[in-house]
Amino acid sequence: MSQAKHNAAHAAMELVEDGMTLGLGSGSTAEIFIELLSKQITQGVKLRGVPTSEATAACARKHGVPLIEPDKVDQIHLTVDGADEVDPQFNLIKGGGACLLREKIIAHASDRMAVIVDASKMKKDLGAFPLPVEIDPFGMALTAEKILLALQESKCAGTDTSLRQNKAGTGPLITDGGHYILDCHCEKIPDPVQTAHLLSQIPGVMEHGLFIGLASVIIVGADDHAKIMELKSA
Ligand code: A5P
Repeated sequence: MSQAKHNAAHAAMELVEDGMTLGLGSGSTAEIFIELLSKQITQGVKLRGVPTSEATAACARKHGVPLIEPDKVDQIHLTVDGADEVDPQFNLIKGGGACLLREKIIAHASDRMAVIVDASKMKKDLGAFPLPVEIDPFGMALTAEKILLALQESKCAGTDTSLRQNKAGTGPLITDGGHYILDCHCEKIPDPVQTAHLLSQIPGVMEHGLFIGLASVIIVGADDHAKIMELKSA
């Protein structure tokens, strides 16, 4: 386990209060956070989680973290999730684990989103990590063409795309929601707000991995400490 990811997840525990309903992110850093939550629960702290993927739900069950269906919650106080890239404005690329649609639904419904990462995820510009776009299999080639145009129009440096394959190599990866992932090799996304806006207009795009204006806390783990950064509201 990476010590930096562990330190970020540990620092996020400072934001957790007794009685909270938490959005549980997906990925290796979020899973460390879930493990830490289970220790709090053992000590009597009352918490419950809304999972952002089937893998996260399985992890929470394994560690004894009570779950609640998203349709049964009236408030999600805090979501804690990882990210693939974070820029200085707290814009994110997410979806490296193909869970971006559910992650965004839960983050958007939460009072607050805290992101836990190691320093390698902090970038001046987004786009070196391929931007995942979750698409409906129906009319996939038509949707991919529109995505290409959106990347060109928003002046992304690279516009190559690839359909993500499953780990067994037997075909396209299928997300928890039954969709495909088109990875967009943008290299640099000069205007993430515009790229996000254009991608959102395309009917076959179920969701894209640009998380704009959702994260208000970024926790960056290092080998011996973690730094907590809060977005100053304008
Ligand atoms: C899951 O779809 C992603 O958004 C993850 O949150 C992201 O890939 C970070 O994963 P790690 O914590 O494993 O680096």
